[in-house]
Amino acid sequence: MGVNKLKLAVLISGRGSNLKALMDACADEAFPAKIALVLSNRAEAEGLKFALAGELPTVVVNHKDFPDRLSFDMAVHAEIVKSGANLVVLAGFMRILTPEFVNLWPGRMINIHPSLLPDYKGLDTHARALADGQSEAGCTVHYVVPEMDSGPIIVQKRVPVLPGDTPDTLGERVLEQEHAAYPEAVRIVARSLLK
Ligand code: GRF
Repeated sequence: MGVNKLKLAVLISGRGSNLKALMDACADEAFPAKIALVLSNRAEAEGLKFALAGELPTVVVNHKDFPDRLSFDMAVHAEIVKSGANLVVLAGFMRILTPEFVNLWPGRMINIHPSLLPDYKGLDTHARALADGQSEAGCTVHYVVPEMDSGPIIVQKRVPVLPGDTPDTLGERVLEQEHAAYPEAVRIVARSLLK
């Protein structure tokens, strides 16, 4: 008997290391999800190489081909629907999403952010945490709501800030935790959605 799995649409814009972590998790037969689509808004996103190497379906929807955010978002939505995905996973997708799009996936869109939300929403999280003299940093996986970097938290992982840290060294320490946090969050979401 086939195991019931979530079907993920992973949306990326760049490096794709979180996509790769999810692909590695999905390689385990017991993991409750598989990747139905990798979508990028940039044809040159390095992460597309992981998807191609793993023979995953990929599509590029270039935001520059659309007159406004809503028409871009609706084209993205159409590709996700076509793929049969039932959970949208934002993994370094560097576009601001319209409420119209977000509201089409209530409880079915998640994001990873490199800070301990609700602290440090937005960009340059590690530099800002260091500038504030924080002793801890981390990452958060959360459900997506129309307000950016908000929404119910699913998983949070903490790391210490160490003496001499730069945004890069701190960012690497956090990224390692991101790669554990995202698969863990997908397992948690699967538990409620696959009931
Ligand atoms: C990660 O730091 C993630 O938290 C943020 O964008 C970055 C994406 O990295 N949203 P990658 O493309 O997954 O390597």
